[in-house]
Amino acid sequence: MKKNIKRIISEIENKSLIILTSSEATHGLKRSLRNLLKEVSLFKSHISALKKRGRRNSTYVQIGGGNHYLDGFLNIDIVPPADVIWDVREGIPLKFNSVKFIFSEHFLEHIDYPVSVKKFVKECYRVLKRDGKVVIGVPDGELAVRAYYKTDNKMIDRFMRKWYSKRNCLNHYNTPIDFLNYHFRDQDDNEKYRPHFWAYDRKKLKSLLKEAGFRKIGVWRLDPRIANIKRKFGSIYIYGIK
Ligand SMILES: C[S@@+](CC[C@H](N)C(=O)[O-])C[C@H]1O[C@@H](n2cnc3c(N)ncnc32)[C@H](O)[C@@H]1O
Repeated sequence: MKKNIKRIISEIENKSLIILTSSEATHGLKRSLRNLLKEVSLFKSHISALKKRGRRNSTYVQIGGGNHYLDGFLNIDIVPPADVIWDVREGIPLKFNSVKFIFSEHFLEHIDYPVSVKKFVKECYRVLKRDGKVVIGVPDGELAVRAYYKTDNKMIDRFMRKWYSKRNCLNHYNTPIDFLNYHFRDQDDNEKYRPHFWAYDRKKLKSLLKEAGFRKIGVWRLDPRIANIKRKFGSIYIYGIK
């Protein structure tokens, strides 16, 4: 990292800390600063990972796996225990035509559409070998909208219990529209959680893969040896073959 940027970054960190611990500062300012600090910390780890860019080789890759670490895979994420701490919005740090299989679930909705999302799908295409496969899984936006539209309280309760039961936000689920908002936006004040930027259905995932050049596209049948089993309910998985 250049000296100037390093100095500015450290000033941002120090000054933010003063504001965050002050009782005078407003909720809005603190919330924005927490988001800024998240990006700052991401930038720092990303810069140190940059040095190793392009030197790695891997046949099986997982992106955005979080705690769902896959043995035998190169796990890439912005948080430990990943093998490579890397901000995928900046591309995938692997060589052209070098990977056989990429797996990613409940990650895509956490990056902005269209710039980062389309770049990510194109990067998957770039690093895959011919006949290589990508599988992308996301929360099922269609199922959520249908449940809301039909006032299917049983389905909504199931969603809320399965996905949000360990969260404070459950206290703020008062009517079904709150469920839809969590599904689409997930703007939790808890810094542990990253917001959702975009929602997907099967059609949208397929169109993203088609646009990036994948020749064969279809619905992936969940393989419990790879997928996080807690995602089984309410998720959709689409594969693309290069
Ligand atoms: C909701 S978690 C899903 C974790 C796991 N795939 C699962 O289904 O349990 C989203 C993951 O995406 C990762 N992530 C978010 N933005 C990222 C980025 N720009 N680059 C790499 N990983 C990112 C987060 O750190 C987190 O581990």
